[in-house]
Amino acid sequence: MKINEDTVVWITGASSGIGEACAKEANKKGATVIISARRLEALEKVKQACTNPSKVHIITLDLVKSDEMPSKVAEALSKVGKIDVLINNGGVSQRSLIKDTDFEVYRSMMEINFFGTIAITKALLPHFIKNQSGHVATITSLMGMFSSPKRSGYCASKHALHGFFDSMRAEHHDDNIKVTLVCPGYVTTEISMNALTADGSPQQKMDRTTARGISAEKCAQKILKAIERNKDEVYIGGKEIGAIYLKRFAPWLLNKIVRKVNTT
Ligand SMILES: NC(=O)c1ccc[n+]([C@@H]2O[C@H](COP(=O)([O-])OP(=O)(O)OC[C@H]3O[C@@H](n4cnc5c(N)ncnc54)[C@H](OP(=O)(O)O)[C@@H]3O)[C@@H](O)[C@H]2O)c1
Repeated sequence: MKINEDTVVWITGASSGIGEACAKEANKKGATVIISARRLEALEKVKQACTNPSKVHIITLDLVKSDEMPSKVAEALSKVGKIDVLINNGGVSQRSLIKDTDFEVYRSMMEINFFGTIAITKALLPHFIKNQSGHVATITSLMGMFSSPKRSGYCASKHALHGFFDSMRAEHHDDNIKVTLVCPGYVTTEISMNALTADGSPQQKMDRTTARGISAEKCAQKILKAIERNKDEVYIGGKEIGAIYLKRFAPWLLNKIVRKVNTT
């Protein structure tokens, strides 16, 4: 699907980082954009920084509140009439060892990254089925393809998204609903600052690897290109992408590397 002045794109986690960059990029291409996250003030700033703010609509939402997603979808449709593309981007990472991590941190990982994401998707699905058209792009991570230390809950939630959205792609192929799984590596955003530590508090530290990642703008351009090209799955980042191929062809070697390499 071409993203242009006729397209409506809804983006979660659009108050910063990759989601903010996707909103600006889609709006620059002429699209009407709905931007969602919890922080209204940050969303207002993103709106004003867009090329055409009159085509940017704000809907605040908290992905933890899955039961509110049907009313958020109704609100979105009442504002803009139709939705063509949903970019499921909102999410939180983790930096803590399994032995230290409160169980509630695992619940947060799954509530935000997995249940919230599938709740908004399921709430929008009848609209896509009715239109016999729609595209869901879900931002997972390379951590949805393999795992590394200190991210056990994050990796689990991102792997779960692959399971769900691969099923959805197959179930709704004949409804002309496309599904793209986007797996970024290191992207320089607030992700490591906001990552939950063992007791659920944010790490408030920029990881060296995150600081050296690709820009959110570059990542957003690749995400929109993958949507336009109807890609099933796309890997975005630097040389860390090579780990996907190691996992497939030499998993024993990848297991050895993730044991030793410091990814924070
Ligand atoms: N940066 C990377 O290296 C990297 C790599 C792989 C995958 N990713 C994925 O990319 C996505 C975007 O992350 P980012 O790097 O752009 O980090 P970020 O700058 O921390 O952005 C995270 C976004 O998610 C939103 N969010 C967090 N909790 C939420 C909740 N409960 N309800 C609604 N929105 C919520 C935040 O908005 P509010 O705080 O305003 O709610 C924010 O807009 C995430 O899914 C992340 O897992 C990032």
